[in-house]
Amino acid sequence: MARPNEPDPDCSLCPRLHDFALKNRDRFPDWHNAPVETWYPPEGSSAVELLIVGLAPGLRGANRTGVPFVGDDSGALLHETLARHGLAENDATPASADQPRLKGIAITNAVRCVPPENKPVGAEINTCRRFLTAAIEAMPRLKVIITLGRISHDSTIRALGGKPAHHPFSHGAKTAMGNMCIISSYHCSRYNTNTGRLTVEMFDAVFESAVRWLD
Ligand code: URA
Repeated sequence: MARPNEPDPDCSLCPRLHDFALKNRDRFPDWHNAPVETWYPPEGSSAVELLIVGLAPGLRGANRTGVPFVGDDSGALLHETLARHGLAENDATPASADQPRLKGIAITNAVRCVPPENKPVGAEINTCRRFLTAAIEAMPRLKVIITLGRISHDSTIRALGGKPAHHPFSHGAKTAMGNMCIISSYHCSRYNTNTGRLTVEMFDAVFESAVRWLD
C-alpha cells in the first residue's frame, strides 16, 4: 500500500516505465523495482523545511534499495554533503530510510520510477509531476528546495505553478516563488563529478546557500 499522495507500488501511469519495472523484477527479483516514495524525516512532512529533488531513481541505487539517493555514488556524495552542513547526523552511506537521521529534510525525485538509460521522456516527467506537487503541498514549513539537474529544476518550477522560462536553470542560481527559495544545482551524478562539471566545492556552495536561507 502506498502512502497517501504517493504512486501505487504497481503504478502504470507511464507504460514504458511500468514495462521496465516488470523486466527489472524478473532480472533482479530481490530489488525494489517500483516507484520510490519521498523520504521524510522521522517527524513527517510537516517538519520539512528543505526539500531535495533529484531526477529519478538510479537503477542500482534507489531502484534497488527503495530509498531516494541510497545505494549509489550520487547518494554517497549527497549524504556526505548533508552531513558536512549539519543537515544529517552522520555521513555514512545509509543502509535504509532510517539512517542517517535527516534534520527537517525530505528527499524525492521528479520521476519516481527508474527510466531506461536514466532518461525519462517529457510525457513521463509531466505525468509524474502530480506526486511532486502533492509532496510539496504536504510540507507547510517548506522554505528551500534544492533541485538537482535541469529536469528536476524545470519540473519543480512547474509543480509550483511557474514557467521555467521565468526561472531558468543555472548552477547555483536562486529564484523565489512565493515564500520559497529554489536553488538549482548540477546533478551530483558520477558523470558530472567525473567530468569536473560539478566539483565538491561547487556542491558545497549550493548547500551553504541553503543553510543561510534556512537561518
Ligand atoms: N538516486 C536518486 O534517487 N535520484 C537521482 O536523481 C539519482 C540517484
